[in-house]
Amino acid sequence: MISRDSQSPLFLRLAAMFAWRTDRRIASKLMGFSATERGSALDMYRAADLVDDPNLRRLFYRHGLDEDRHAQMFNSAAKKVNGGCDVAVRAHEQVHQVRQHLFEKLGLVAFVAFVYVSEAQALKQFNVILHHFRDRPDMLELFRRVGRDEQQHVAYSKNLLDTWRKEGRGKEVDQAMRKVKRRTLWAAWRRSGKQIGSVLTSVVMATLFVGVLFPFALISRVKDRSRSGWVQPTRPVDTRSQG
Ligand SMILES: [Fe+2]
Ligand SMILES: [Fe+2]
Repeated sequence: MISRDSQSPLFLRLAAMFAWRTDRRIASKLMGFSATERGSALDMYRAADLVDDPNLRRLFYRHGLDEDRHAQMFNSAAKKVNGGCDVAVRAHEQVHQVRQHLFEKLGLVAFVAFVYVSEAQALKQFNVILHHFRDRPDMLELFRRVGRDEQQHVAYSKNLLDTWRKEGRGKEVDQAMRKVKRRTLWAAWRRSGKQIGSVLTSVVMATLFVGVLFPFALISRVKDRSRSGWVQPTRPVDTRSQG
């Protein structure tokens, strides 16, 4: 349940305190969420186009509409937190707002397993965020509203997997779950690598500026002044005493 926020592990709550510590960061994070929701919507629409079963087509299409709405909600919230100005999606998160062609890559059973695993992870993440924003009504309302839809997504995808198990496709479902969990772990590893890379690039650029470019520019400016013969007067000249 999304309301059991205080049961989240301590290290996740500490990570949330760091990640969501200023309005600027909150706006950036919300735009990252918006990008992910948009990418999910595109994949759900694609799955709805490709699947044969009309019931699944309806479920996937409805799911896509939910994710599109979430993308809009996170986008609007980011803008509001940022004083009404648009917020850019960070470079390492831009890949999430495009279609990943997951249905074609995974096939139906693994695709639904992926939906179930991803949505369940999103709910856990939301619990941590809800706890972090427990004293901030605008964020609480946003994550509670989105979280209610995510609970539906967990429920319908789990129901599909359970139905296939009952129909004798348990082995296929288990294989799909293992495949998806491996894939999810690998994606998380690559994502953290990109984030670390982005932080390292910022640190290197800042070090270059402070340690090399700034002193070099300062020396160059001093040299230019001495070449031009400009000298700082030691005291102001009193023109009244001259004649
Ligand atoms: Fe969503
Ligand atoms: Fe969702």
